[in-house]
Amino acid sequence: MSETLLIGASQVVTCRGPARARRGHEMAELDVVPHGAVLVRDGIVADVGSTADLRTKYQNATVEEIDGVLFPGFVDGHTHAVFGAPRLADHERRARGIDYKAIAEAGGGILSSVDDVRRREKRDLSALTDSRLKMLLRHGTTTVEVKSGYGLALEHEVKQLEVIAESDAGPHLVATFLGAHEVPLEYRDDRDAYVEIVINEMLPEVERRRLARFCDVFCEPGVFTPAQSRRVLVEAQRRGLGLKLHADELDGSGGAELAAQLGAVSADHLAAISSAGIDALSDADTVAVLLPGTMMFLGRPGHAPARQLIDRGAAVALATDFNPGSSPGMSLPLMTTMGVSQLRMLPSEAVIAITVNGAAAVGEAGRIGQISPGFRADLVLVAIRDWRELSYWFGVNSVSRVWLAGVPCPLAQAPLNYCFYRICGYPVFFHDDQT
Ligand code: NIG
Ligand code: FE
Repeated sequence: MSETLLIGASQVVTCRGPARARRGHEMAELDVVPHGAVLVRDGIVADVGSTADLRTKYQNATVEEIDGVLFPGFVDGHTHAVFGAPRLADHERRARGIDYKAIAEAGGGILSSVDDVRRREKRDLSALTDSRLKMLLRHGTTTVEVKSGYGLALEHEVKQLEVIAESDAGPHLVATFLGAHEVPLEYRDDRDAYVEIVINEMLPEVERRRLARFCDVFCEPGVFTPAQSRRVLVEAQRRGLGLKLHADELDGSGGAELAAQLGAVSADHLAAISSAGIDALSDADTVAVLLPGTMMFLGRPGHAPARQLIDRGAAVALATDFNPGSSPGMSLPLMTTMGVSQLRMLPSEAVIAITVNGAAAVGEAGRIGQISPGFRADLVLVAIRDWRELSYWFGVNSVSRVWLAGVPCPLAQAPLNYCFYRICGYPVFFHDDQT
């Protein structure tokens, strides 16, 4: 048995409470222990309390002194982290005023990443993915949901899901099958035929090889209709997969209502959600996963209505949507800053949104997202004194240490001191010779 007592944190933000998504006013209730300590036993949190109490209680434990504010490991509930090249031409086109959908029509967009992923060897894709996942870990993310969706053909969707299954980058990964991310070029004249391929060829293989825990669809005008999305999701559910949905991202089409009706674990994006959609999520267990980095990066007005969702009783999570097209962002702390400054969330709600509710959005609310007895000891130490600084400072990475199941992780670099960091020495992770 190994027992470590972490002491000396100026605060331990436990997020203790029920092992389920926090909704409405519950999101503002954040449990913080001043001068806190945590006892980790065999990778699991065994106790949490004040340093003075726990020192007296556990005199035989190995003591480790830490400095800063300790949080539960952050949970990024929505990423598309398996991709090849960054889409720099799209970035430039956008700067010239061309929007996301027009860029896709001009040969950029999701299909250009599909073309790239199809041409790459799995080994190459794994190396790129793992280096990026390590950077997410560097920003305090200990669990990452990762989607396929840049293959759009059985062989290449499977290749992406294998990259996820075989990753040893560090963070715990939750795989989502997103074969219905876009209609590939070869099916543009018969979009329903592609939906049938997803249902009849891809889903059976994903189920047979247990390659994914969830199935997602990009339900959006011009991509998949609510009827097509429903067909894919109902079949996925029949095969035992949990459901997620890209819902009402750029234009509304009733995605939030569909996700709630089908009992999806999450409805994601929601910048164009209707009032009926907000009502549907307020009455359902489906977590609203909001992705402010996407709207910011695409330069689009109108963030998702976080305030209304919370005020009407919904459960809200924040995630990065990390992907090469609409959100090449890796920092959940930055998402909390945007949550507070752009989405009118309280700092406490923003913390719950990347811990407890992030965990709920990947079906893990009973295991991660809290520093509470019985929970896995995924922990993040941030070089601040007051937990509210997490969503306050931005443009710096203040994460100084990370533990995965109680084990300290090597990070890409260590901070020099309170709030100021050396910015050199990051590994080269965006590019390889082909990009
Ligand atoms: O969540 N909306 C669809 N998928 C991604 C974008 C993917 C891409 O542009 O490559 C998103 O925004
Ligand atoms: Fe997405």
